[in-house]
Amino acid sequence: MGTKYQAFHRRSIEDRDAFWSEQAQLVDWHKPFGQVLEYNKPPFAKWFVGGETNLCHNAVDRHLKDRAQQPALIYISTETGEEKTYTYAELHAEVQRMAAVLQSLGVGKGDRVLIYMPMIAEAVFAMLATVRIGAIHSVVFGGFAASSLATRIDDAQPKVMITADAGMRGGKAVPYKHLVDESLRLAQTPAAKVLIVNRGLDKAMSLVAGRDLDYATLRAQHMDTQVPVTWVESSHPSYILYTSGTTGKPKGVQRDTGGYAVALAASMRHVYQANPGETYFATSDIGWVVGHSYIVYGPLINGMATVVYEGTPLRPDAGIWWKIVQDYKVTVMFSAPTAIRVLKKQDPAFLRKYDLSSLRHVFLAGEPLDETTAQWIAEALDKPIYDHYWQTETGWALLTGLPGVEAHATKFGSPSFPAYGYDVRLLHEETAAEVAPNEKGVVAVMPPLPPGCMSTVWGQDERFVQTYFTSFRDKLIYTTFDWGTRDEDGYYFILGRTDDVINVAGHRLGTREIEEAISAHDAIAEVAVVGVADQLKGQMPMAFAVVKDAARIATPELSAALEKEVMAKVDSLLGAIGRPKRVHFIAQLPKTRSGKVLRRSIQAIAEGRDPGDLTTLDDPSGIQMVKAAVDGK
Ligand code: PRX
Repeated sequence: MGTKYQAFHRRSIEDRDAFWSEQAQLVDWHKPFGQVLEYNKPPFAKWFVGGETNLCHNAVDRHLKDRAQQPALIYISTETGEEKTYTYAELHAEVQRMAAVLQSLGVGKGDRVLIYMPMIAEAVFAMLATVRIGAIHSVVFGGFAASSLATRIDDAQPKVMITADAGMRGGKAVPYKHLVDESLRLAQTPAAKVLIVNRGLDKAMSLVAGRDLDYATLRAQHMDTQVPVTWVESSHPSYILYTSGTTGKPKGVQRDTGGYAVALAASMRHVYQANPGETYFATSDIGWVVGHSYIVYGPLINGMATVVYEGTPLRPDAGIWWKIVQDYKVTVMFSAPTAIRVLKKQDPAFLRKYDLSSLRHVFLAGEPLDETTAQWIAEALDKPIYDHYWQTETGWALLTGLPGVEAHATKFGSPSFPAYGYDVRLLHEETAAEVAPNEKGVVAVMPPLPPGCMSTVWGQDERFVQTYFTSFRDKLIYTTFDWGTRDEDGYYFILGRTDDVINVAGHRLGTREIEEAISAHDAIAEVAVVGVADQLKGQMPMAFAVVKDAARIATPELSAALEKEVMAKVDSLLGAIGRPKRVHFIAQLPKTRSGKVLRRSIQAIAEGRDPGDLTTLDDPSGIQMVKAAVDGK
């Protein structure tokens, strides 16, 4: 990497305050900050202390002066056939209507609003409206089942929930409101009100009088209501986004306001090399961190048009994304390796059918980018492809190509270099010493974490410290829970997680969550879930379960029936994204003498690898059973 990047990165660490103070000029401050960083209670970092700002103001209002008639939000649904562009002026009007409705329901500064919505424009209005009035959103991915939703309701205790009757996927309606009803039956703290965007897709939807409200009716009462932004202190929480870890209970990643706005504005320039007035297309979903940072806030803060797409990459045909690039002159695209692997199986003619001259480059993230896929898309598009690595916790890229700082070569399989602001180290898991080039270490960051990263775990400061900062003995260092290496040229490579988190089609899942769902089936005594390599999805969960009563699996037919039931249990408790590829029934799980399930050995066997050191094994028959099950014996 060139000297320009090196100087840029060095300055971000060594002259931190000056560096970030400059980046902070990329956003509007209602009241200037007095201190760039307050770090008197490590590892808690407060950025731009004393400054007052607002995410919605930076994403919408401040562009009205120069860009009122410019496209801000391009909504495309290949499911319903809708296609509609909102200018910044129109977005401003819609956000104010939604904000007025929320205020009329009593939502104010610091209150939580839970958003459980498909990819429709109103989902973006809802997020922006929430932060506009200083409230805090918790967006839950639509693929999560009712009980996952209930856990998140209980944790954040929202005043209002916003949903739609249904979404659509692959031509079929997927109910949303129905799941909200069920989640509120399961939750201990029912939301006061449920606001429904009725798309007319679920004719069977029923309403609970006094609780459920029709958004269209309320919106009509607030067509011209002005809702001024509520200025909040920089560290005021903007949102909570839950993510999986090693325990069964997801963590609420809490994001601030000022640091996040600055981090995103800076990343649009230095990472994505994206300019105001252009179109940005992130193919993610608003339920994930990529959706928060790069469908909603990043592009809008940067004065761009953002594409909100409801549909699959294959309908009406595999050219749909490239048609969108052509029609809306997309300059920067952000997607995930799984999606590219899906496209790779289609006729390559779809990539040549459209004019892609507007496209500058494509960024991919969320899971390891294998070399074959990287090479295929780079050649097929004939555009630079940048792999970049980050996490829900960080909110923006940690390791990345940085074409906006300096043009540089990429290496297949590598997310390139540390982003500015991150003091990245590869550490030996036990000694915490830095490893040599090409040696495997844990990807770690010396705190303070830069602006944009999580402030804490919602309502659980202690858990934040315990989870992320206690991996290296008595040293306070942030662990990413990923293994990595760095070559002689300084390029990083990610080798997979150090914990029990798996990555299915770019979606992060805790194996413990899936195990808990499976254990909820009354036939199951014990279960271990591991991630196994999958050609298309990167990884898939695979379960090894012990039944309480062997009679339940006495014949292959009974066993197959129980496997189906267990899968249905996961669907209903967690959502289909957690459904294991297979549930193998075995008589006992391989455990150490101290009773710890040997997940890594099970995973190795399930992937046809050597299970490694088995000397701590209590009884070797467990391992043999896993092997026999995988081999289909
Ligand atoms: O294991 C790493 C993997 O995904 C995890 C973070 O997932 P999530 O919180 O859903 O955030 C995704 C934000 C893009 C990481 O700990 N991961 C993410 N990006 C990459 C990756 N693994 C390899 N290469 C990547 N580029």
